[in-house]
Amino acid sequence: METTFLMVKPDGVHRGLIGKVVSRIEERGLRIVAMKMMKIDRETAEEHYAEHEGKDFYEPLLEYITSGPVVAMAVRGNSAISLIRDIVGETDPQDASPGTIRGDFGIDIGRNIVHAADSEESAERELNIFFKSQDYQEYSRVEENWIYE
Ligand SMILES: Nc1ncnc2c1ncn2[C@@H]1O[C@H](COP(=O)(O)OP(=O)(O)O)[C@@H](O)[C@H]1O
Ligand SMILES: [Mg+2]
Repeated sequence: METTFLMVKPDGVHRGLIGKVVSRIEERGLRIVAMKMMKIDRETAEEHYAEHEGKDFYEPLLEYITSGPVVAMAVRGNSAISLIRDIVGETDPQDASPGTIRGDFGIDIGRNIVHAADSEESAERELNIFFKSQDYQEYSRVEENWIYE
């Protein structure tokens, strides 16, 4: 099983979309193993978005992500990293398919509701920024025997 990092961004929290995001993860059969509501400080935001430093959207992105509370999650399941990226949709909500979170709830690229790790390396790196080992819960969902063959 893979564990990936997903976060409801401040616009998602302010718009009351935490529940919808969580529901989509749960309904797909993925397991939330850590979850935390927090306000990201500037230093953490810089670390999280280090790959985008120097891009024209970098400063607005840091302002956006530090502007209000976020809900950070660790999500586990078979192929969780790519499945969560699919559930989230394309970066620009205008390119995101209906049925995805960004395609159903977003319009502007700078207000795209959720963040999701895009690879095994970023998942590990991002999870380590937001969670310590004691933040994870070890359990399995009762229906996993029926979700996995
Ligand atoms: N051209 C852009 N203009 C404004 N914001 C952007 C732009 N590109 C990316 N962003 C913001 O930066 C975040 C990180 O970008 P990126 O890693 O490319 O996308 P993703 O979040 O899909 O992995 C995006 O989710 C979005 O909030
Ligand atoms: Mg990214």
